Amino acid sequence: MRYKILEILIQNAQHYVSGEALCRQFGVTRAAIWKHIKALQNEGYEITASTKKGYCLVGLPDRLDAELVLRGMQTETIGRTVRYEDEIDSTNRFAKQLAEENAPHGTLILCDRQLAGRGRLGRSWFSPERTGLCFSLILRPPVSATNSLPMTMLAALAVRNAISRSTGMEAMIKWPNDLQVNGKKVCGILTEMSVTPEADVKWIVLGIGINVNTKEEEFPEEVRRIATSLYLERGVECSRLDLVREICLQFETLYDSFVETDGDTQVFLPQYKVYSSTLLRRVKLFLGGEEISGIAEDFDKTGALLVREDNGTLRRIFTGEISSHKGFRKP
Ligand code: BTN
Repeated sequence: MRYKILEILIQNAQHYVSGEALCRQFGVTRAAIWKHIKALQNEGYEITASTKKGYCLVGLPDRLDAELVLRGMQTETIGRTVRYEDEIDSTNRFAKQLAEENAPHGTLILCDRQLAGRGRLGRSWFSPERTGLCFSLILRPPVSATNSLPMTMLAALAVRNAISRSTGMEAMIKWPNDLQVNGKKVCGILTEMSVTPEADVKWIVLGIGINVNTKEEEFPEEVRRIATSLYLERGVECSRLDLVREICLQFETLYDSFVETDGDTQVFLPQYKVYSSTLLRRVKLFLGGEEISGIAEDFDKTGALLVREDNGTLRRIFTGEISSHKGFRKP
């Protein structure tokens, strides 16, 4: 009955529902309704109560549990199976385990506390409790492993678009898949893949970490210089629940077109370029001990970065990390 009451309050969000009407509908006393309202308030639902007008839902809790995330999810497959853990070592580690146990395509694994978050290039990922968004998606694209590689760039664009729709902020993408606001990192993506002997994809785990409502003092000293949060840049908190649902929706739209075209990067690359903070800038990166520096001229259709070195040579860079970006490019 508690969740039936909640459904009614959600349908009438921001409007009062009369206590009398609830009593009649459920055939119980006012005291019984009040008991359920109090329990919902304790779960984090913001419900105002007025003796004359009844009950009004004014805010949802910002916990990420599966039921709350599923409510309002607008996708067909992505995020339609949700596993929530209050506390976990790494959502990517757990997602890989579930993928091996045949979890379906689109499974979303999320948590409120990640104790050993993993980053790219063997680094760790700082995961602030409840103010960050840490989750992983299990994907089973019917596309060859080679053609699936740009999926990580597609994911960066999807997260960028979701942040823009949810907050109005226009984050930029540092190749291949970091999101930055005012030159500081707000989101990192760790993509892991298992491939069959026939070079098909068995599964892809896409791990996404976003600094959402993180305050300055929550960042470790060494991270503060290079990282920021949506809250710090915008001055307003943002609902992690809405954001994770919007990311699933934006990702699904791009993913469906990508898979339908057997992994054609044209479905996202033109838009990716618009929001690239790397393109047309002088970049420096290290590749197997060698330093490469030049102008980031373009991306080819595999998603590789094309760097024009000072001696005129065009280098195709498939993976790596840009250590410096010079020059300024606005969206
Ligand atoms: C990076 O920029 O180095 C990638 C960071 C990826 C972090 C996310 S948080 C959710 C998922 N689980 C992990 O252990 N890592 C990814």
